[in-house]
Amino acid sequence: MLATLDKLQEDAIGEIDSIQTVDELESWRISYLGSKGRLKGVMPLLKDVSKEEKPAVGKRLNEVKRVLEGAFDSRKAALAGATAFRPPLDITQPGNDVAQGRRHVISKTIDEITEVFSRMGFSVAYGPEVEDEYHNFNALNIPEDHPARDPVDNFFIDGDRMLRSQTSTVQIRVMESTPPPIKIIAVGRVYRPDTHDATHYSMFHQCEGLLVAPKVSMVDLKSTLFQFAKAYFGEEAEVRFRPSFFPFTEPSAELDMKMKIKGKWQWVELGGCGLVDPNVFDKVGYDNDKWQGYAFGLGIERIAMLKYGIQDIRWLFENDARFLRQF
Ligand code: DAH
Repeated sequence: MLATLDKLQEDAIGEIDSIQTVDELESWRISYLGSKGRLKGVMPLLKDVSKEEKPAVGKRLNEVKRVLEGAFDSRKAALAGATAFRPPLDITQPGNDVAQGRRHVISKTIDEITEVFSRMGFSVAYGPEVEDEYHNFNALNIPEDHPARDPVDNFFIDGDRMLRSQTSTVQIRVMESTPPPIKIIAVGRVYRPDTHDATHYSMFHQCEGLLVAPKVSMVDLKSTLFQFAKAYFGEEAEVRFRPSFFPFTEPSAELDMKMKIKGKWQWVELGGCGLVDPNVFDKVGYDNDKWQGYAFGLGIERIAMLKYGIQDIRWLFENDARFLRQF
């Protein structure tokens, strides 16, 4: 009987150390200390023990019971402690990747262009995207019967309110609220109801420039754009003017820049420019005898698409991360 008790204690203690959960511990308790457990199971053997041995066996029986109960209590405490102090997450697990965003390629292009003009002393101006006909057309010397004012070519909202079709509106807004001299760029969205295709979209971005000073010539305009081209497109970049017409500049020119496309330097048309028309200064109350100015407008999408080899303008605005991630 003593040997049976020794074996029982040895088994019980051997098992309890590896127990990790409260459920397992309860099973252990039932199988050793329960009413049908192994300890109760040895009781019937007691009647076969001789009278002389009985006190020793009885003592050992109580001892085993106490050892097992003690082991149970301390394991229970240990498990409770382990549960209480277990961190709510397993810090040894590798973490989940957080999808990282990035600047949109158009925002990036705007930032880069703004940075170059800022270094040349231009401040950044903003104007409303919901405009009126006066700022979008009249003040820019665009007459009532000009084809650019055709309702089918503009997003009219109600009355004379419209989504601006060009950032040249900001020239007017700035001159109305600020006395000369002026040296600003205005970057932002413009809207035209064009049918979407690879090169047309109903919303796109322009960078407008305006300088007003006592004496301004086409040479100032060209050298400024030349500096910009060199800084933005690289040392071999060049600028070319082609005679043109815009109602708000006189003289006016189409603006071409030589930029590197697929490894080759090529001329591309990027916008328009000219010297501010005296009629525009009249509209904003600037004295034509004291002030002269130049203005230019660049297409942002065109610059980004040529620079990054993007073949379809629609890809820029479909929000397909697989496309946008490349830039
Ligand atoms: N606003 C013109 C357009 O949307 C671009 C432009 C041409 C802007 C000549 C200018 C300029 O400032 O002088 O097509």
